[in-house]
Amino acid sequence: MRNNDVMEEILVSEEEIVKTYKRLAKEITEDYKDKDSLIVLGLLKGCNPFMSDLLCEINLALEIDYMDVSSYYGGLEAQENVQIIRDMTLEVKDKEVIIAEDVVDSGRTVKKVIDLLYSRGAKSVEVVTMIDKPGGRKVELKPKYIGKTLGDEFIVGYGLDYKELFRNVKQIGILSQDVIKELD
Ligand code: IMP
Ligand code: MG
Repeated sequence: MRNNDVMEEILVSEEEIVKTYKRLAKEITEDYKDKDSLIVLGLLKGCNPFMSDLLCEINLALEIDYMDVSSYYGGLEAQENVQIIRDMTLEVKDKEVIIAEDVVDSGRTVKKVIDLLYSRGAKSVEVVTMIDKPGGRKVELKPKYIGKTLGDEFIVGYGLDYKELFRNVKQIGILSQDVIKELD
C-alpha cells in the first residue's frame, strides 16, 4: 500500500506542519534561553518524526531522551491503563523537561509521565504536542506548546498510527474507510 493515497481528508498539510514545528521551536528557544538545562523527552513511538524536526530548529544546547509509555495498543480507542514499557536513562532531578508528543487526547499518558518526572525531582515539566484534542480530555492538562488543535476525529500521519502504520506520512489526516476495512 502506498502512503500517498491513504487519506480520506488531509487536516494538516506538509507546509503547515513545517510552519508549525518552526513556530514551536522558536517559542521554546525564547522561553528556555536563560535556563541552565533542558531535556526534551520524547514519548515513543509517536513523537517521531515531529520531535526530530522540532529539535533541529531549537537553537539551544539540550539533552534528548525517550520513554515508551503505552496507553494505546494499535486500535482506535486509547486505553485507560497507562504502562511504562521503557524508561528514560537521563537523570531529571533539578532539570527543566519538555515532553514531546504527537497528540494529547485523554491526557492520561502525558499526565502519568508529568507526575513521574516531578516525583523524581524535575524542576519543571512542560508539554509540546503537534496535535491537541481537548475534546477527548479525561484529566486536567493543558499543554504549553500546541501545534494545532483538532476535534475528536481519529487521525494518522506524522507520528500518528493506525495499527502501527502511517507514522511516516508527511501530512496529518483522516484515514480512508477503504484502508481501515483492508487492514481489519
Ligand atoms: P492520551 O489519550 O492523551 O493518553 O493519548 C494516548 C495515545 O493515544 C497518544 O500518544 C497516541 O499514541 C494515541 N492517540 C490518541 N489519539 C489518536 C489518534 O487520533 N490517532 C492515532 N493515535 C492516537
Ligand atoms: Mg503517542
